[in-house]
Amino acid sequence: MQYKFPKNFLWGAATAAHQVEGWNHNDWSEWEKENASRLAENTENNISSYTRRWKLPDYIKNSYPSPFSPENYISGRACDHYNRFREDFDIAKSLGHNSHRFSIEWSRIEPEEGRWDEKEIAHYQEVINALRERGIEPFVTLWHWTLPVWVAKQGGWENKKTIGNFARYAEKIVESYPEVKFWITLNEPEIYTMNSYLRGKRPPQKKSFFKFLKVYRNLAEAHKKVYIIIHPTWVSDTQVGIAKNNSYFEGWLAPILNYLWNNWFLNKIKNHQDFIGLNYYFHNRIKGFKYNQNENKWVSDPVWDGNFWEIYPEGIYHVLKDLKKHNKPIYITENGVADARDVYREKFIKEHLRWVHKAISEGTDVRGYFYWSLLDNFEWDSGFAPRFGLVEMNYRTMERQIRQSAYAYAKIARENSVTA
Ligand code: FCB
Repeated sequence: MQYKFPKNFLWGAATAAHQVEGWNHNDWSEWEKENASRLAENTENNISSYTRRWKLPDYIKNSYPSPFSPENYISGRACDHYNRFREDFDIAKSLGHNSHRFSIEWSRIEPEEGRWDEKEIAHYQEVINALRERGIEPFVTLWHWTLPVWVAKQGGWENKKTIGNFARYAEKIVESYPEVKFWITLNEPEIYTMNSYLRGKRPPQKKSFFKFLKVYRNLAEAHKKVYIIIHPTWVSDTQVGIAKNNSYFEGWLAPILNYLWNNWFLNKIKNHQDFIGLNYYFHNRIKGFKYNQNENKWVSDPVWDGNFWEIYPEGIYHVLKDLKKHNKPIYITENGVADARDVYREKFIKEHLRWVHKAISEGTDVRGYFYWSLLDNFEWDSGFAPRFGLVEMNYRTMERQIRQSAYAYAKIARENSVTA
């Protein structure tokens, strides 16, 4: 079957500054220095000696950096995308992408409170120009989880002052690049607050339910403030949204979780968004009081570098159908799989798109799809081990190697249709 997508559909891939640029100095880079050894030990301890010796697949055993070594958990030069963005956009163009999502690193733009680094502002201008020159539409994220060290020292998003500081930074950025049409203010506020405050696993590792709520609210305020700044002052066809990670829940708790996790934030900002960015990765079947009772039928052979995330393409359909009630255009701002061997990726993309197509054919206004990610990159506290890229990174040589699935996705983008 051939599934044709709407005219002018956007096809691309996404990245985030801290994960690809290299040599960032922010709250994450500080945290990595302190936690790399612990993260390496945890990985070692989570694997039995039997598995380590006999069952660990070669591609994990031989991977560089090794997930059992601290260097895996230090972003360092990452993909050196800061210097190689042109080469990377050449690849995106050669793969038929007509759009690209990336983020601007606040800590580069405002390394000290109130001091703008004009060189860095010029750098992102070059990034935007490089995309435009290649006929690629930029989707620009203003905040993808990292904070300048001075902001973190002031309490980060717990401190209401950060809302004003973020708005001032956003205003500077938006004024600097008036040609950008699509702005994503925040990436996954719910995943950030959950990991950093509810579970206390990622910086600033403050485990507290009250802080979690406070930060979540402050993020919603920050988004609204930036929306208002962008709208009255800027050209009317500028589109502003967030990238929201929604899960497909099943089971008796599904309606409550769907409301709290998937819709609370969107309802809170409903008069302050032009589109919804959807990041879809998760299905969560609840049985009794147990979460994630998923079967993972799709994968016969575990995807080790994907930390065994379940693959459940149908979920994207249900999530999209649920989002329809907000009556906004939807862009899928992330969807992807960590699969170093590239055995599942092509099918993963096609199956998800088949379900996206079904949602569209039933009246959901989906206008674009960004695969996560263009390149393998620094996957936060999992380090370099998960390989999400359409393009494989050799972290020793910085060589880029286009994966087979990337060509399959290129065909989809060029033909504006999926054959599955
Ligand atoms: C999302 C993040 C992105 C990347 C993918 C795998 O939650 O937005 O930066 O880590 O997961």
